[in-house]
Amino acid sequence: MRRAKWPASSSTPVATPLQPSVVYASRDPDALDAQYEGTHPGYTYAREAHPNAQVLAGLIDGLEGASGGIVVGSGMAAITVALLGVLKAGDHVIGADQLYGRSLRMMTEELPRMGIETSLVDATDASAVEAALRPETKLILIETLSNPTLRMSDLEGILALRNRGVMVAVDNTFTTPALVKPLEMGADITIHSVTKMLAGHSDATLGYVAAKEADLNARFADLAATLGVTASPFDCWLGERGLYSFDLRFARASETAARLADALSDSGKTTKVLYPTRNDHPDHNKATRLLAGKGGNMVSFEIAGGRAESNRLVQALDGIAFAPTLGDIRTTVSHPPSSSHRAMAESGRQALGITEGFFRVSVGCEDADDLISAFLKALDQA
Ligand SMILES: Cc1ncc(COP(=O)(O)O)c(C=O)c1O
Repeated sequence: MRRAKWPASSSTPVATPLQPSVVYASRDPDALDAQYEGTHPGYTYAREAHPNAQVLAGLIDGLEGASGGIVVGSGMAAITVALLGVLKAGDHVIGADQLYGRSLRMMTEELPRMGIETSLVDATDASAVEAALRPETKLILIETLSNPTLRMSDLEGILALRNRGVMVAVDNTFTTPALVKPLEMGADITIHSVTKMLAGHSDATLGYVAAKEADLNARFADLAATLGVTASPFDCWLGERGLYSFDLRFARASETAARLADALSDSGKTTKVLYPTRNDHPDHNKATRLLAGKGGNMVSFEIAGGRAESNRLVQALDGIAFAPTLGDIRTTVSHPPSSSHRAMAESGRQALGITEGFFRVSVGCEDADDLISAFLKALDQA
């Protein structure tokens, strides 16, 4: 059977077409040559580039104030591209000591295996980062807000260290470009797990990385094609669809999160509530200044007791998914001691304040009153 022809149409689709083609046919060798040389636009092979990833990257570029960022197959793929795109054997990299678990594994296991030295430091204090600088330090990798204690990195202080000849990469997943635009603040690289708030529906695994310098973006695109960390066109299509409602979802979820934090605290049934813009948060001043008074959609809290009380709380949270993720349009609750921080020694968890009664909530877009009353009821039963 011969290949079908796409029907001609003088109108264009309103929804972005989904293009799953792995490979693209060219008119003749001259046309293919022109594409490879970059003198004529065109796709050749989806691992190198495809339209759905390019469309999504362009939209996130717009949010981040970037140009030429790329979309890859996961947030970890974006972090890998950023690290391997900049570092080589003999270099030294500083990471925040509360990075996402797999980012920590990159720092403690994979990079050292490649001859890249790493140090982990407290990123809430730029002087601790400065003290770890070495002549061979090439890059500092931080997250805007740490997981799950929602501590705010000393962004301004760390970005000022760029004048010591180091690059700064910021994982902006928790704050999103609605609160922080790292490149506009002076960072060299911004990174997202698009899987989370940007795509927003727990149905697409995606990452994004953008550098300020055009040459570095070209390097990232080339490296991503070599590593094969391509995002699936369908995931990109879903991510794009989710992204169109990102600002509405995030604004609503953040408003509810601020109310939930206050309600949890006022309930008298929690021993601690962490929300960046609350007066009792350790980084309240920094967060209020850098996040324009908005605290985002993540709230953490602690209840008294041990595993039995935590089990009871989760079982009583009717209709709220207990799942170690964030950024879904619906609220999810995670329990770091049994998920993200389970591999950490008890003493390390205690030092961070992650006790058996510690929970992290990714607030979604449900009715705020319903959500708050669901939490208060569950607290009563715990
Ligand atoms: C802050 C942060 N960065 C990166 C990642 C990794 O993203 P992905 O799961 O899309 O690989 C996560 C995942 O939870 C995260 O929380």
